[in-house]
Amino acid sequence: MARQATNNALHKAKSSKSDEFYTLLEDIEKELVFYKECFRGKTVYCNCDNPKESNFFKYFFKNFKTLGLKKLIASYYIPNTQNLFNEFDPEHGGYIECTIDDIETEITDLSCKLLNGNGDFRSQECISLLKQADIVVTNPPFSLFREHLAQITRYKKDFLVIGNINAITYQEVFHLIQTNKAWLGVHLGRGISGFKVPDHYEMYGTETSISTNGDRIISPNNCLWLTNLDIQKRHDRLKLTKVYSGNEDLYPKFDNFNGINVNRTQDIPMDYEGAIGVPITFLHKYNPSQFEIIQFRKGDDGKDLSIKGKCPYFRILIKNKQPSKAPVISSSLFALPNVEVGNAISD
Ligand SMILES: C[S@@+](CC[C@H](N)C(=O)[O-])C[C@H]1O[C@@H](n2cnc3c(N)ncnc32)[C@H](O)[C@@H]1O
Repeated sequence: MARQATNNALHKAKSSKSDEFYTLLEDIEKELVFYKECFRGKTVYCNCDNPKESNFFKYFFKNFKTLGLKKLIASYYIPNTQNLFNEFDPEHGGYIECTIDDIETEITDLSCKLLNGNGDFRSQECISLLKQADIVVTNPPFSLFREHLAQITRYKKDFLVIGNINAITYQEVFHLIQTNKAWLGVHLGRGISGFKVPDHYEMYGTETSISTNGDRIISPNNCLWLTNLDIQKRHDRLKLTKVYSGNEDLYPKFDNFNGINVNRTQDIPMDYEGAIGVPITFLHKYNPSQFEIIQFRKGDDGKDLSIKGKCPYFRILIKNKQPSKAPVISSSLFALPNVEVGNAISD
């Protein structure tokens, strides 16, 4: 119930376009530790970030030397006036650019340049900043996630961004994942502790709190990091311990696709050669040299994949690239737990 309430709150943010979920420094630090070598000699652009407030800017500024950055840019969007310092012009967005020469300065003393427009990441001015960058790192507004990612890929930039887990189900995002142009970062769901929300934001459910310094925090469990930066996790092979042969009844076939259903990633059988329908959380364990992604959600009839007329929550059809032979041991060792349907973050 509480989870439902929090997810509704996130949904509200999405539909009302308030889009003001501010990323916590601890979550940025926890994720970025896995990408340390990706930033050497690079220009990072945080394009939905008020540099005087954003923890992304704070993180990169603080770790400029350690990461070996060439340049850091952050630009902010002006309708977000209530979060801005008075020194900002209420009609123009702005940005800060810094190099190694600036890192001894206090963030509050860095000089901010005004833009002619409002700092929309889609504006020509922000696109010029984007062109200078190698990697975009931010948490963009939820309602503009698709456009934000489309722009990054159009300009062939690397990225590490936060999005809603449902973003995976957007056709264009799934396509990037399927073609190995994007993948899940290290943390998702409960692995992202929460977001700071503005004072006007109504707090729902029990998954909200006030931090020791008075910040209002909302902790949805349905966000993830999406990236095209190489991380070790992507090369880790998923250890398969379950066997299809002899346990066929535990792996029902889809009504509308020649393949079997698996409810939990850890139950993928090692010896099945055909298509396997897995929950979207499989993507968190996806290693492209071990598995191939065939398609998303739909069967041959264009309808959602179903088993005896029932549709499990979004399934991704995959294939094991190197299925192994089943070991010769008692099948009772491979019993599966009961079928579980409809939980997006069950693994
Ligand atoms: C989800 S919040 C995250 C803010 C910051 N990136 C962070 O992680 O703390 C999204 C931010 O994007 C800003 N924003 C909304 N529309 C924008 C646009 N078209 N261009 C740039 N920023 C925008 C919002 O005002 C908000 O500050």
